[in-house]
Parts: sequence; C-alpha cells; structure tokens
Amino acid sequence: MKILAIESSCDETAAAVIGDGAEILSNVVVSQVDIFAAYGGVIPEVAARSHLEAILPVVHKALDDARLTKDDIDYIAVTYAPGLLGSLLIGTLTARMLAILWGKPLYAVHHLKSHIYANWLIDGGRDIDRPEFPLLALVISGGHTQIIYMPGHNQFEIIGTTRDDAVGECFDKVAKILGLPYPGGPSIAKAAEKGDPLKYHLPHPKIDGLDFSFSGLKTAVLRAVQAECNLPITTPSYELAGYLTEKQKADFAASFQETACNILLEKMQIALRGHPEARSVVFAGGVSANKVLREKALRGAKNGLKHELFERGGDKNGEVAGDEAGGGIFGSEVEVFFPEAKYTGDNAAMVGVAAYYEIMSGVGPADPYDLNIMPRVPIK
Ligand code: KG4
Ligand code: ZN
Repeated sequence: MKILAIESSCDETAAAVIGDGAEILSNVVVSQVDIFAAYGGVIPEVAARSHLEAILPVVHKALDDARLTKDDIDYIAVTYAPGLLGSLLIGTLTARMLAILWGKPLYAVHHLKSHIYANWLIDGGRDIDRPEFPLLALVISGGHTQIIYMPGHNQFEIIGTTRDDAVGECFDKVAKILGLPYPGGPSIAKAAEKGDPLKYHLPHPKIDGLDFSFSGLKTAVLRAVQAECNLPITTPSYELAGYLTEKQKADFAASFQETACNILLEKMQIALRGHPEARSVVFAGGVSANKVLREKALRGAKNGLKHELFERGGDKNGEVAGDEAGGGIFGSEVEVFFPEAKYTGDNAAMVGVAAYYEIMSGVGPADPYDLNIMPRVPIK
C-alpha cells in the first residue's frame, strides 16, 4: 500500500509517501519559518501564497524521493482541519484535484489526529514499540493543548483542553517578551540551557480538573520581568527585552519552561489517575519536541531507556535490553511515547500514517468533489 499525503494547515508545505506498515518512503517539508521570523508570527495571506508556490514541487519531490510515480500510489491523504483557512484550502484543493485526476481514494485527516499518529510511524526500517490502547494523549502545539483519551484506533474523547492560550502560543508570546526570535519554543529551549529553572517562581493556574490555562502564566512572566527591571506595569511588553541582560533572559526562559512543563505533566498525572486502565501516555505536537519535557516524562518510565537509545539511533530494531524497572512520574505500568523529534512539528508523514490506520480499520474515503475544510473543528 502506498499513500501520498499532503499537509498545509499552517506554515509548512509538506508531502510524504507512506508504505506498508506505516513506513516512511519519503518526507518533504518546506517551512516558511524564515519568512515569518521577520514578522514575528504567521501572516495567513502570506502563508497561503507560499503554499501555492510550493505545493506542486513538494508533491513531485515526495514522489521522486520515494522513486515512485503516480501509478504506484493507492491513496491520497490530506489535512482538512483545523488550521488557517487559506492554508488548508491549498492542500485540500491539490489533494482533491489529484484524487479526481488520478482516480485514487481520498482520505481527509484531522491535524491533531496526525500529530498523535506521529507516534506510530516507522522511519528507515527501524521498528520500535507502538503505543498500546487504551491510552492518554497530550496534544501540545501552537494552536492546541488537549488531553485526549483513546480507547482504540480512531476513537477520541477530549477530556481536557485549554480555556485560553495553547501552550505553544504561550512559548511564542513569552519569547517575544524576552526578545527571543520566532518561533518561540525552540528559542526558549535554547536560551534556557544557560539559565536557572528555579530562579523565578511562576505560579501554576488554579484550575481544577483536566483543563489548562496559559494566559496567566504569560502575564506572570510579563509582571516578573517588569518587577525585575524595576519598571512600572504600564511598560509595554515589546520594550522589556531591552532592559534584560542575557543571563536574566536565560533564567526567565528556564523558569518559564520548567513551569510550563510541570503544569503539563501534573495534568497528565491527574488524567492517568482518572484512567488507571490506560496502558500508554502519548505526547504529540510541536511542543513535544521540548527536551526538558521529554526528559521529565521519560525518566524512569517503563520504556524510558529504550526510547532514549532509539532516539540516539543506537539500536536498529529497538531491541534494547535492560529497561529500567519503572517508577517514573507515570508509574511502573505505563509506557511513555514521544514522536521522533523531527516528526513533532508539522509534516505530511504523520498525515499518511493517520490515514494508514483509517484504511486498516475500514474507514471509508471522503468524496473528493465535496470535501470541505474546517478551520475549527474538534478531533474525530
Ligand atoms: O505542531 P506545530 O508544529 O504546529 C501547530 O500545529 O501549531 O507546533 C508549533 C508550536 C509553536 O508554538 C512552537 O513554538 C512550539 O510548537 N515548539 C516548541 C518547541 N519546538 C516547537 N515548544 C517548546 N519547545 C520546543 N522545543
Ligand atoms: Zn501542528
């Protein structure tokens, strides 16, 4: 089986080919991050135009890299929701057109589902354990922060969500306050390497249950920076970075990252207490690239050592002996999964893998003449 997948929900134009067993045969991502670094954020109109320029060459390259032609492709898959309207349109119209012209079934995939299924993809013939059901997934991206319970493939129950900002958005906004470049997540992580995570105490939001709130944390950083620099609270956020030393920036980055990671992990611990039958905890989305988060979640986990060695490329088949006894923050019975770091951000391989598991589960294709984009719709 060969699936040509397309992703264009935000500012990455991506195409990939997925083969049998959810193995990646090619994966092409053209990022617009350099364009938007100059603006400090994504401009939807510009993103849509850039997708239009890039999409056909990217699809061609994905086929070429896999050494395949259109005749080898069995299915087309595309992200139809959620995301930026103009961006989603370019990807879905391209996929619809190819599905109609080439006579291939079309699978429409929800973006958050794709992020979760990045945990199932196989790269370079190397196999690792896959998550087992029932599982709890934490989707953490620029637009979403959700805890999702999955009893089985293609079954999703949202049990926690952010009431305001997404955690990735919070990384991006705090980076702006500290004068660090866009996108904020990687910049904060880099600056934090030289900082003290315990230097500034930042409060955890007081929200019972499994929902999140991140706008208060961003404001807490803003106030702490103003206080540190002896400035009035009326000082605009864009002026603050000029008053901070590199050391102060590093300490704020580290303290913020520490707090944000702890907030995420504490909620997952609560979620697990409510679902003791869960066998896996799965992380997904751009923020799951964060090293501190990965270390905290994987340390002492049932499969933590195996995962770490696989990430370092140590073992070809993931057959690593001597896993720790278990006793990480999620206990000894649960396995913890992160996608390989390079598949945490937006890419089309994960779209193809999500479609693969739809096809394998007998889910029917979409109508290529009647596929609508949905800029805001819950996972399904
Ligand atoms: O999943 P993604 O690539 O796009 C969306 O679907 O939103 O996520 C992008 C988000 C951005 O907010 C970015 O700052 C954040 O992921 N991010 C990180 C890291 N790398 C990317 N956040 C924290 N630490 C990172 N290393
Ligand atoms: Zn995404």
